[in-house]
Amino acid sequence: MPAVATTELSERVGVEILGVDADRLVADPDLPRLCQELLEKYGVVLFRELHAPDAVQVEFGAKLGELARFPKFPNEHVMEISFDPANPLAPYFPSNDFWHIDGCLDRMIARTSIMSARVITPEGGETAFASTYLAYDELGDREKARLRDIRIVHRMARIQQLSYTDPSPEQLADWERWDDRIHPLVWQHESGRRSMVFGATASHIHGTDPADGRDLLDDLEHRATTPDRVYTHTWSVGDLVLWDNTGLVHRACEFDRSQPRKMARSTVLGSELIA
Ligand code: OGA
Ligand code: MN
Repeated sequence: MPAVATTELSERVGVEILGVDADRLVADPDLPRLCQELLEKYGVVLFRELHAPDAVQVEFGAKLGELARFPKFPNEHVMEISFDPANPLAPYFPSNDFWHIDGCLDRMIARTSIMSARVITPEGGETAFASTYLAYDELGDREKARLRDIRIVHRMARIQQLSYTDPSPEQLADWERWDDRIHPLVWQHESGRRSMVFGATASHIHGTDPADGRDLLDDLEHRATTPDRVYTHTWSVGDLVLWDNTGLVHRACEFDRSQPRKMARSTVLGSELIA
């Protein structure tokens, strides 16, 4: 293990790696494995004020696994998260305000998300994280048994409707472009650990009326995200945060959307089906 110092960011989630600059991020051959280990243990890994340019973020991300492609952006491995009207995906980003897992509508959920802060707002705009490994571990045995075989239907319209409560026919048609995705509620990882797969894309329990199961999903999310279980990251420009997207839910916190805020996000594709 390389000689790096770390410090925990909260009681349950998050760790900061100290004393590593952008050059070392890509030059130190031990850092990718160290980050994987820290992600497994802490869920969130922070490099404070690293100021890694997009190309460096991508070079490092590629060492963690295959990166998702976002063809609408100049660097196809870097999605710009902003409400800039020129951003082609801006209409979808209000949904980031709700607890979610990235790529929950994909067959294989993204493994790691990487995000650097480029422009921040003076107030708000934090990103909050909560562990769904912990949430599972804290269930009682009877509840674990009851949840074991439940499968959840994830739906684009479900997450989008939280922001657009009166959608236009065009919006509804647009959201239909994403097929529903059914995932087990409890994910038994190849590592042997178990987490849960819920959040704003979770529409209902597969095989039941959509209204059924709402209370269960809301209750699981609520219990997982009480303030004592959440690490809320207050960004400085240049911060780079990695998170284990397979065992966490996250959300953006409110800010004044007339002010610019710009994040650069890369995504390490998943390699494990939820089982
Ligand atoms: C995302 C996301 C949160 C934020 O990019 O997937 O959830 O704080 N972003 O911008
Ligand atoms: Mn997200």
